[in-house]
Amino acid sequence: MLRIGMLTSGGDCQALNAAMRGVVKSLCSVVDEIEIYGFKEGYKGLMYSNFEMLTSKDFSGILTLGGTILGTSRQPFKLMRVPDANGLDKVEAMKHTYHKLNLDCLVILGGNGTHKTANMLREEGLNIITLPKTIDNDLWGTDMTFGFQSAVDIATNTIDCIHTTATSHSRVFIVEVMGHKVGWVTLHAGIAGGADIILLPEIPYDPDVIAKAIKKRAKAGKRFTILAVAEGAISKKEAQMSKKELKEKQAKKKYPSVAYKIAEEISARCENEVRVTVPGHTQRGGSPCAYDRVLATRLGAVAAQLILKKEFGYMVGIRNGEIGKVPLQEVAGKLKTVDPNAAIIKEAKMTGISFGDE
Ligand code: F6P
Repeated sequence: MLRIGMLTSGGDCQALNAAMRGVVKSLCSVVDEIEIYGFKEGYKGLMYSNFEMLTSKDFSGILTLGGTILGTSRQPFKLMRVPDANGLDKVEAMKHTYHKLNLDCLVILGGNGTHKTANMLREEGLNIITLPKTIDNDLWGTDMTFGFQSAVDIATNTIDCIHTTATSHSRVFIVEVMGHKVGWVTLHAGIAGGADIILLPEIPYDPDVIAKAIKKRAKAGKRFTILAVAEGAISKKEAQMSKKELKEKQAKKKYPSVAYKIAEEISARCENEVRVTVPGHTQRGGSPCAYDRVLATRLGAVAAQLILKKEFGYMVGIRNGEIGKVPLQEVAGKLKTVDPNAAIIKEAKMTGISFGDE
């Protein structure tokens, strides 16, 4: 008998179901007797022993389904060692559930925070296999996370739609794309959607440089300008401030989000009408794109092989087109950011895209 637990943790994304399906289908094609414990709402389900017994049937017909059939929640790593409201030791509670159910392995689908906790559970002696999910594509150890390409498609579609209306009205449009710490989705959707200016957390911007780029386009007879701006875009001035100074500055004047602040900065420098569009959580919603379905299925299949070989303590990722295992301790706590000197940035600049920096 093989007993596996599964949970999805952190912000959801497309292809979570596709990845779980990949694991279960691959296991069921070789193992006759299997018990699958689906923990509800991420680590919470493991802490409070809230699970559902699932069978291979539950994983049929979910390849194209967005969200997660298990539900998810954010359980910050920094609070894992802090007892809950009733004094429960969360880590001990998770270990207790695992041992009580006599699990052979726990399959965890998650992003950065999730991987820190997964690695901690590995250190605590649990058999863990993880799969890299997040639209942000910021997980170390894998070239791609599932969810990323689907989010890029949605954000690109938003920019495409904005193009027509921006042209009609000769406006400056700011499309705010998800990504507080990293700009992968913004970078790719910005290039794919033909944005004129792309602002990323990794490349602090100067509002005067943005204004110059807008004016240059107007002078060339271009009727509109589109900016793809990451949620975490930051100005050069702000980048030099300490965390405390930045907080104080932000407290003085609150904006609904960064795009509104940049809109104000542009309005102060240019005559154009400026509008803001925030696709928000639509970027995490709906059916996974074909690329993510394939990636999630491949990752799931290899995760199953590791379980069968009893090789635990790994994330399954993709590097240079090859699916493989990466030790969890190498993944946990590291962020994969956009390198400002990467070829893709240089190539985008060659085509005239401004990153607001020079
Ligand atoms: O980590 C995925 C992500 O969608 C980020 O891009 C975004 O900044 C954040 O989650 C939003 O979090 P929440 O769903 O908690 O609002």
